[in-house]
Amino acid sequence: MSKVSIFEVGARDGLQNEKAVNTQDKVTLINELASSGVRRIEAASFVSPKWVPQMADSSTVMDQIERNPSVKYSGLTPNLRGLEAAIAANVDEVAIFGSASEAFSQKNINCSIEESISRFKPVMELAKEHNLPVRGYVSCVLGCPYEGEIAVSEVVRVTELLNDLGCYEVSLGDTIGVGTPAKAKAMLEAVMQSVPVEKLALHFHDTYGQALANIATCLDTGIKTFDSSVAGLGGCPYAKGASGNLATEDLIYMLHGLGLDTGINLEKLAHSGDKICKALGRNNGSKVALTLLKQ
Ligand code: HMG
Ligand code: MG
Repeated sequence: MSKVSIFEVGARDGLQNEKAVNTQDKVTLINELASSGVRRIEAASFVSPKWVPQMADSSTVMDQIERNPSVKYSGLTPNLRGLEAAIAANVDEVAIFGSASEAFSQKNINCSIEESISRFKPVMELAKEHNLPVRGYVSCVLGCPYEGEIAVSEVVRVTELLNDLGCYEVSLGDTIGVGTPAKAKAMLEAVMQSVPVEKLALHFHDTYGQALANIATCLDTGIKTFDSSVAGLGGCPYAKGASGNLATEDLIYMLHGLGLDTGINLEKLAHSGDKICKALGRNNGSKVALTLLKQ
């Protein structure tokens, strides 16, 4: 069976958008994700607590989880300060995050695209000294909440910049979930002209319910890495109205149905997703989980 890789972002992209999340609930979620077979977990975000207070306990979370040696635990690091905190918290890898939209870059990380690339350079250097793999994100690859349409050439340019900086993988974010299948595939194919598909991931939010269709349409490009969020948790604090990422359970159900191996136990995962939704008092955003849990 052909293998695909799921990069689980629920504990970061998901929980960064909730009003208040108990540290213990985060720890439980991350431990349960690992025991469901998830092997790549974004568990932390070392950003300014003034900007995203929800992630201020990231070091405590990293300290309290049971480290499963088969799992890579990752954290967002916008600058050197974030990277230093990530190193102290002993993460396995970090992520820098840029944008294909100037306006979103300003709102999200308070600098232009060009400035963000210069800020990332010392982060890359220090990460290299510590042998920490660095993932890159490009936001707004299929549209921006402030600028609307984003030129594919900008997506290609920023992805190339992150790749040239030394990111081992670049994740293409439809931050506000506005993409549709043909546009998503055309964007990916354009990026693949300069960055090999093995180094790319798709990170689709599901605001308009298109994320699964977008991924299904992109599969024949050879793309094998997908970011998703258990129970469809989340949104983005700097993209008003955007809903969570595609629910991991829904993605896995489709991938398994296509004969692709994720290594994840879907039933176990569905229970963990439901537990965190109950703790947060929110609805479960996965149709697959809701169906499985009724059985
Ligand atoms: P800034 O205000 O321009 O930077 O923020 P600054 O250096 O002037 O610092 C401001 C204050 O933050 C200072 O504190 C710093 O010490 C502190 P003060 O002196 O005012 O008391 N500070 C920090 N504290 C802790 N950790 C740090 C850190 N850095 C500065 N690392 C900055 C620039 C990038 C820090 C800020 O804009 C920020 O933290 N932004 C984070 C935004 C964010 O987390 N967004 C959500 C994640 S991205 C996302 O969800 C998209 C993604 O999922 C892909 C997709 O869907 O498209 C990845
Ligand atoms: Mg996101």
